[in-house]
Amino acid sequence: MNYENILSNFQNGITTIIINRPNKLNALNRDTIQELHDAFKTANKDKNTKVIILTGSGEKAFVAGADISEFSDYDVTEGANLAKQGQELLFDFVADLSTPVIAAVNGFALGGGLELAMACHFRVASDNAKMGLPEVSLGVIPGYGGTQRLPQLVGKGRAMEMVMTAGMIDANTALNYGLVNHVTTQEELIPLVEKIASKIKRNSSVAIKGAIKAINANYKDGKNGFKEEIKQFGKCFGTADFTEGTTAFLEKRKADFPGE
Ligand code: COA
Repeated sequence: MNYENILSNFQNGITTIIINRPNKLNALNRDTIQELHDAFKTANKDKNTKVIILTGSGEKAFVAGADISEFSDYDVTEGANLAKQGQELLFDFVADLSTPVIAAVNGFALGGGLELAMACHFRVASDNAKMGLPEVSLGVIPGYGGTQRLPQLVGKGRAMEMVMTAGMIDANTALNYGLVNHVTTQEELIPLVEKIASKIKRNSSVAIKGAIKAINANYKDGKNGFKEEIKQFGKCFGTADFTEGTTAFLEKRKADFPGE
């Protein structure tokens, strides 16, 4: 598919989606959000894609936020719709995707950029990365899930401070907070993420899908995560991947998962 604002490449079981508006520090405008939705949907449907990596183009930014030029004249209804549509189309969509999504945070991840990184299943950052939710400095609050996902990841007190000060934290502070899992150099960022993706690829994609559902259930209103875990655990026993995984172990060989 041809996109204007993003690139999507497939290689060795990994689809890498690159937000490609470097002159605007990869700011998320409406078209980019729609294209990202389409690219994630396509990759998730593709049986050969075992892991999705999301990153930004250029050396400066992952995503410097929602595109401020697009919403500066919005009224109350338009503002609420912007957040609702964005959450449905991209942020919740990515968080609930059954294919693992890793954010490779290669620079500024601010506002909607940090919210997008947080919607991914986990994050790896380069040492030049700077992260923050600066919305209150613009007279608005985070609207793409930031008030919910930041406290889930770093704890309420740290989230309150980050949101209230509108400040940025560096990659090592983000590592210390548990916001990112690893920090490396900019050159090593994609190789490291690909190495992690290769480990994921070896495992049962069907079981991983169930695990994502069970883990996410803890963060959903009206869902009991333990019950969801029991349901997903049971479902595994009816899959060809489970038969192959357990048989391979007993036969002392590597599993070759059919993905069903
Ligand atoms: N929305 C729209 N455009 C943005 C943007 C955003 N969130 N972030 C950066 N840009 C654009 C700038 O307007 C500039 O465009 P121009 O060259 O046409 O004027 C270009 O990207 C480069 O940004 P610039 O500000 O010149 O780079 P910098 O290195 O001086 O500063 C930042 C980098 C990230 C500190 C600064 O761009 C910034 O504060 N961006 C907004 C961050 C933000 O508030 N995000 C939350 C939005 S809700």
